[in-house]
Amino acid sequence: MLIPSHVGIIMDGNGRWAKERGLPRREGHLAGINALESVLRRAELLGIPCLTVYAFSTENWKRPGMEVKFLLQLFEETLLNRADELFKNNVKVKVIGRREGLPSNLIETIKKIEEKTRNNKAFQLNIAFNYGGRAEIIDLVSSIVRDIQEGKKIDLNDEKTIANYLYSPEYPEVELLIRTSGEKRLSNFLLWQSAYAELYFTDKYWPDFDGDELEKAIEDFKKRNRRFGGLNEEGGG
Ligand code: IPE
Ligand code: IPE
Ligand code: MG
Repeated sequence: MLIPSHVGIIMDGNGRWAKERGLPRREGHLAGINALESVLRRAELLGIPCLTVYAFSTENWKRPGMEVKFLLQLFEETLLNRADELFKNNVKVKVIGRREGLPSNLIETIKKIEEKTRNNKAFQLNIAFNYGGRAEIIDLVSSIVRDIQEGKKIDLNDEKTIANYLYSPEYPEVELLIRTSGEKRLSNFLLWQSAYAELYFTDKYWPDFDGDELEKAIEDFKKRNRRFGGLNEEGGG
């Protein structure tokens, strides 16, 4: 089995990682940035072309105001601090999710990094921020209705046509979906795109995940037998 063309990661367990160390939750989020850098470097080395990481869900607004504020600030600071390095490493950055509800300065920073890296080719990094799989489907339905009202002919029976309305239709479906911290759920991540993803769960908290852990997940993926509803070549199940 080849390297997955698109890996999704639900980066979970920052809070518990910090709690185990008697630290405030925000230290866990900070440590999570290092984990992401290690994973990003290895993903490039392994030849994975596309990575989508879940950084903030549409449900995460339910957290205490202080934590939400911290996460928004940390995201913006990280984009600002790492923009040059990502650009130099030929990484194309895209932020998927709803822009409405985000502070205007953060929206500007997102636009700038997307613009700066838009012609980069070596690696695609999608960051899901204020992202929800159901919100994405609702947004897609609204766009389709608008296009129909404007007179566009749309084949509503064609999956490819519908998928063209996703936030990032240009990337392949998720082939490997990783979730850290021992939780075994999707939490509203890439619902359409993960329809046939191989799932990989690890008990490691996100700040303890790194390039080596990613490689383990890839090795596991290579052993999977993907049938997509069909049968093996030998005719077995
Ligand atoms: C993941 O870690 C980061 C975000 C959801 C923003 P958590 O903050 O969910 O950490 P736990 O699950 O409470 O340990
Ligand atoms: C999912 O983690 C969202 C992100 C990693 C950004 P959560 O910690 O928010 O998910 P639940 O609450 O365990 O489902
Ligand atoms: Mg969590």
